[in-house]
Amino acid sequence: MPITVKEPYFILETERTQYVFGIDQAGRERHLHWGKKCLPEDFFIPEYEDENSNHSAQDEAQQEYTAFGGTVYRECALKARFSDGCRETDLAYRDFRLDGDTLEVTLQDRHYPLAVTLCYRVTPGCDILTRWVKLQNSGTAPITLEKICSAELSLPGEQPYAIHNTNGAWGGEGLPAVQTLTSGALTFESRRGTSGHNHAPYLLASRRAGEASGEVFFAALAYSGNFKAEATRDLFGRTRLLLGLNDFDFSYTLKGGETFETPPVFCGTTPGFGEMSRQMHRFVREHVLPRAFAKKPLPVLYNSWEATGFDVSCENQMRLADLAAAAGVELFVMDDGWFGARRNDRAGLGDWFVNREKFPQGLAPLIAHVNALGMDFGLWVEPEMVNADSDLFRAHPDWTYHYDTRKAHELRHQRVLNLTREDVRAYLFERLDSLLSDYNIRYIKWDMNRPFSETGAENLENPQMLWYLHTQAVYELVDRLRAKHPDVQFESCASGGGRADLGALLHFDEVWPSDNTDAVDRMTIQRAYSLLHPVKTMRAWVTDVGGPNKPTSLAFRFQIAMQGALGLGGDLTKYSEADLQLCRENIALYKEIRPLVQFGDLYRLADPDADEYLCTQYVDEEKRKSVVFLAARGTRFYKKRMAVRFDGLAPEKRYALCWEGENVVKSGAYLMEVGLPLRIRGADFNRIVRIQAAE
Ligand code: DGJ
Repeated sequence: MPITVKEPYFILETERTQYVFGIDQAGRERHLHWGKKCLPEDFFIPEYEDENSNHSAQDEAQQEYTAFGGTVYRECALKARFSDGCRETDLAYRDFRLDGDTLEVTLQDRHYPLAVTLCYRVTPGCDILTRWVKLQNSGTAPITLEKICSAELSLPGEQPYAIHNTNGAWGGEGLPAVQTLTSGALTFESRRGTSGHNHAPYLLASRRAGEASGEVFFAALAYSGNFKAEATRDLFGRTRLLLGLNDFDFSYTLKGGETFETPPVFCGTTPGFGEMSRQMHRFVREHVLPRAFAKKPLPVLYNSWEATGFDVSCENQMRLADLAAAAGVELFVMDDGWFGARRNDRAGLGDWFVNREKFPQGLAPLIAHVNALGMDFGLWVEPEMVNADSDLFRAHPDWTYHYDTRKAHELRHQRVLNLTREDVRAYLFERLDSLLSDYNIRYIKWDMNRPFSETGAENLENPQMLWYLHTQAVYELVDRLRAKHPDVQFESCASGGGRADLGALLHFDEVWPSDNTDAVDRMTIQRAYSLLHPVKTMRAWVTDVGGPNKPTSLAFRFQIAMQGALGLGGDLTKYSEADLQLCRENIALYKEIRPLVQFGDLYRLADPDADEYLCTQYVDEEKRKSVVFLAARGTRFYKKRMAVRFDGLAPEKRYALCWEGENVVKSGAYLMEVGLPLRIRGADFNRIVRIQAAE
């Protein structure tokens, strides 16, 4: 049984881990264990008796969900304000409900009609625990929720943990930030409306950990809006993680009879970062992604943005489509520029009608051409935005977030539509639904290119709810469109990786992790993305942006992009016949190895930054097939020799591979323990090595 209840103990077991909490004499839920499996009968709930005038036993307890109130001074997971002015919550265990793999433990406020249900799900076959919380107001007066976390997690032991998040930016998403938390708190958050490019809505905590060693605890919030991820370490050396909606400029009015359900947190503990990624990749593919395309390989696409920019026309798109199809592309996506008065980024957003100057007969001739070439057609949209220079804004100047008394700050000349308004959502649904109904569109790239500002929303009784309601509105719009158009794939893009999170992956099939398509930078960006997100969902284009200071060869660019969901984005009309031939060969190869890349187990054998070369291996479930990518920009200090030790193979099986021009047959044990010698030489070194079980 994955979940056992032996009151007062709740014991949750995944494949290899155990999570235990209990209810103490005072009715508080107390965290007891997260780690390897122990005998259930050994658990007990410690009582703290050394309370003094400045040290409260209540503050010392490790709880599953700390509510603000009483003598609790540590960071809380929940803060509520009641209608009579009371700002403290006092929860006591009420009851539990066990339904298969889901456990719900309800705590009830001792005075007010607020119930807090802690929800836990164990997914068979995985080492992932899902946590979320339901808050219910069973009275009549509203309750204002000022801080809501999805989960609080206590880590074992008193030694400090290294806390990992990102310190990224546009074009540099996912840049790692690792700090040892010795005392106090570390906070990673977004205040921008989306999860953003800077910090990530997850926390990794590690001790002495590498790819295949040490202790790793991870918790990822599936949410694309303003989030807060906090790690704290108290005077006893105990580390806690809190993840939830950001309480900055936030409150949520829970009216009588209403329930609020938080976004989920997916968490687990593994011996090393490699197993963490493999666990999460499998879990997200099998249990998080929208079902329609989760098990299908994602197509090789061409995207027009870097080739034609806003200057799209029926003719130039057809020409690109011809070349893309000849190279083996399966999906042709027309990016920005096809609608309204869109000639540049100053006009047109909001007017989701085909520009008749550019496409006199609508999109039908282009789509027919693309389809006749054997490709599907996809379209770019940015539904949450409006340019002041648009028919939509002229007709509805009040449809944006704004304050009448404040200057509207435009970024990229655009403003954010107030998606908490029903009429705005209805307009967007009608426009997108019409496009999807009128045309044979199989792919939507949903972009979002600026953070919020002037967040006034007169339509809301409590405008501080807008951050949350906006994110929900995006999810709901996508879900509604998907329900009506089940054959359409959706990509989440927000100026690159501004919404590249697990919340997006509950609704979108894939994400665009960065606008930076430089292959050298991509090695770092893609590695970061692969930590918790399956590479199947990572769109990766080969473009002409070799980096102004560091152009890389086309073969090198392919090799990096083929480690995700391959796409092309260069101006194919400028490619030589040799370049086009290279495109054909690499796309053909990618189609062969695609099942491994998109559905295999990922092993990061070398870190492109720390080791100066990248080595990534994908292995199928049966351990019969594998593909290895080796790439180096060039190494420094004459450090060019190494033995590549593979991973994920069956030690007893024999494998055949072609290694630096030689056919080799070796056991899995040899390949993993001894490895094969490699000399990296020259610029843009890149190899793709296929491994196949020999018998
Ligand atoms: C930002 C995206 O990240 C790009 O890929 C492209 O779609 C542009 N927006 C279009 O404006």
